[in-house]
Amino acid sequence: MIDSITGGELPTRHIISIGDFDRNEIDRLLDHAGQIDNKNYDENALRGKILAALFFEPSTRTRMSFESAMARLGGTSLSVGSIEACSMAKGETLADTIRVVSGYADAIVIRHPKEGAARLAAEFSTVPVINAGDGAGQHPSQTLLDLYTIRQSMPIDGIDIALIGDLRYGRTAHSLAFALSLYNARLHTISPKGLELPATLAAELAGRGMEIIEHDDIGEVISEVDALYMTRIQRERFPDSASYFNVSSNYRITPELLARAKRHLIILHPLPRVDEIDPRVDESSHARYFEQSRNGVPVRMAMLMQVLQ
Ligand code: CP
Repeated sequence: MIDSITGGELPTRHIISIGDFDRNEIDRLLDHAGQIDNKNYDENALRGKILAALFFEPSTRTRMSFESAMARLGGTSLSVGSIEACSMAKGETLADTIRVVSGYADAIVIRHPKEGAARLAAEFSTVPVINAGDGAGQHPSQTLLDLYTIRQSMPIDGIDIALIGDLRYGRTAHSLAFALSLYNARLHTISPKGLELPATLAAELAGRGMEIIEHDDIGEVISEVDALYMTRIQRERFPDSASYFNVSSNYRITPELLARAKRHLIILHPLPRVDEIDPRVDESSHARYFEQSRNGVPVRMAMLMQVLQ
């Protein structure tokens, strides 16, 4: 497999970037997740297999849904929830940690604050590595469940989708934008100044023929798009609270705004959310973000079967 973001060769079974998949491979994996969702799977498919979950950053959804996926397939998980809780706190390198852990497990899922950490882990691992988020880099399992969630409501091909929030550091947005370029989607971006999509990624997407249109606020696109992909804006990216509050309403979804939306519009969010979705929106027919987080289980079951069978 070739990673089309970096151009580098990858051993077949690691999943480091969404660029490790071509479109056919994504479609096949999503089809498999659909079968699993319909309870059409072997509950002992991964009996005897062990997943090591190394989460060096906080996580609820990714970590628990990987562990749930493993348990539903008859396997087991070992987990480390922080650098402080393992011997990296004593100065052990990530490379040595991975060499050791790959002797204890059949696959490793890793989240790390530094971009490139999962790829480094793959170089030192003797078992498959899945990237569960590396700094501002990639989050491929999230993207697969995002695509799965879109596909439950509409064909992905040719959709108009708005990515909203911190698009500079938001790894879920980076992975999803790349994947959508395989589906001829038109991308609308809405982000605070300084938090726009990285220029290198925007150029790569444009080179792949993707149309990208920048907007100042959600109101400009609400009546045009088929999907809104909300992301969290971290307050710490702003010099002070006042600067954050000055712009935050431009990136917030409310029922009033949705009055102008297409009937079939769906709202996605990788979660956790903070202020960017009014809780009244949860009851609307547009909200898909809790289904989206639930979809993490069948999609990650399909991923685990892919790397472990
Ligand atoms: N979407 C996501 O990555 O959530 P967690 O940080 O809770 O894993």
